[in-house]
Amino acid sequence: MDKLIIEGGVPLKGTIKVSGSKNAALPILTACLLAKGPVRLTNVPHLRDISTTLKLLNILGCETTFENGVVTAQVKELKPEAPYDLVKTMRASVLCLGPLLGLLGEAKVALPGGCAIGARPVDLHLKALERMGARFILDSGYIHGISGGLVGARIMFDFPTVGGTENLLMAASVAKGCTILENCAREPEVVDLANFLIACGARIQGAGTSVIEVEGVRQLNGCEYAVMPDRIEAGTYLVAGAITDGEIYLEGCPVAELDVLITKLREMNVGIEEQTDGTVLVRRNGPLMGVDVVTQPHPGFPTDMQAQVMALMCVAEGSSSIQEKIFENRFMHVSELARMGARITLKDRTAMVRGVEHLEGAPVMASDLRASASLVLAALVAKGTTEIQRIYHLDRGYERMEEKLSAVGARIRREQE
Ligand code: UD1
Repeated sequence: MDKLIIEGGVPLKGTIKVSGSKNAALPILTACLLAKGPVRLTNVPHLRDISTTLKLLNILGCETTFENGVVTAQVKELKPEAPYDLVKTMRASVLCLGPLLGLLGEAKVALPGGCAIGARPVDLHLKALERMGARFILDSGYIHGISGGLVGARIMFDFPTVGGTENLLMAASVAKGCTILENCAREPEVVDLANFLIACGARIQGAGTSVIEVEGVRQLNGCEYAVMPDRIEAGTYLVAGAITDGEIYLEGCPVAELDVLITKLREMNVGIEEQTDGTVLVRRNGPLMGVDVVTQPHPGFPTDMQAQVMALMCVAEGSSSIQEKIFENRFMHVSELARMGARITLKDRTAMVRGVEHLEGAPVMASDLRASASLVLAALVAKGTTEIQRIYHLDRGYERMEEKLSAVGARIRREQE
């Protein structure tokens, strides 16, 4: 297993290019199952979750290639079963339920695993697909779905689930008749998936709002599509600039999609300015100040940036708080940050952070994707050396992170344990 060794205390200076979005690429890749003709996707990040999804597509009967950020996909003969070995490592595999049920009338998908950040059930996906005529049984750890052809319906999500909205968008695109989805997730990645489906010939209106209307079509075609930039990766590097008191220029930073994060960072005294060449410069305007954050579905503060911003709060003046409203168990980084000298107390779903003058390097353990990123950020500012174990989590979601950070001056290296 690989670990990262980081010597903190270097202000990061230079330019970082933002990669394509993992969370947009995953559903878009799954949606390739729906296309009759060849698909060419660009700006696909080189990540472990992407390779897992490509393997899954191959098993489901879709041939793929992946080189230099370009994926080509061509469906040959669809098969309905997504095996446990693949699905257990990645929750997003459940996204193939919608396309398979839509096209084949059958799907057998192992119940997903993924990050250890809570129960993360898929009941809302199943309930919504049932409204379109699917029936499910749980069979030896597999969700087995059958439908005699999905039919459009009016569906109200109990919660604006991102994956649920994406699954239903795909299913409804090839269902019979019109589907109206209410209380949908409004995340930019949902919009990116909808735009991809539209480029393939789907008839979708309202993506990015709470109500999405989908008029089913008989068949989707191939297309060429560029995946949106990764707003969470971009946000992580904004924090890297701020926490190290450096000056980082981000290339391809999706500013509009990071509105709430940028507002909060500015409240903390972090300057974020768009430059005339299109890059975004992050640097401190003064001492970091504490701030209060509540995670919410988009357009609220993203839960995927909570852990990283907590690292910044650890070295900000005064007290800060984070209330986690999306996942019930997403504070595993707290005890690891505490090992580095952070002062954080937890009560239910709220973390109270009292800023300290400095963090100390220590051996720590990564527990999930964004928690790992938070430890990297803390290590970049900590005095001395930090060893982060179990960084396979990072490799699921950050493209060439240590390379990008070294290029702006970080003292970071990967070693095998
Ligand atoms: C997606 C993102 C993830 C992000 C999350 C919230 C991908 C691959 N992952 O995950 O990075 O943190 O959105 O922005 O895009 N829930 C249920 N039943 C369901 C579905 C969800 O109870 O059927 C609950 C979950 O347990 C969780 C909350 O709803 O507490 C949010 O989940 P959801 O929006 O579905 O997130 P994901 O699509 O899993």
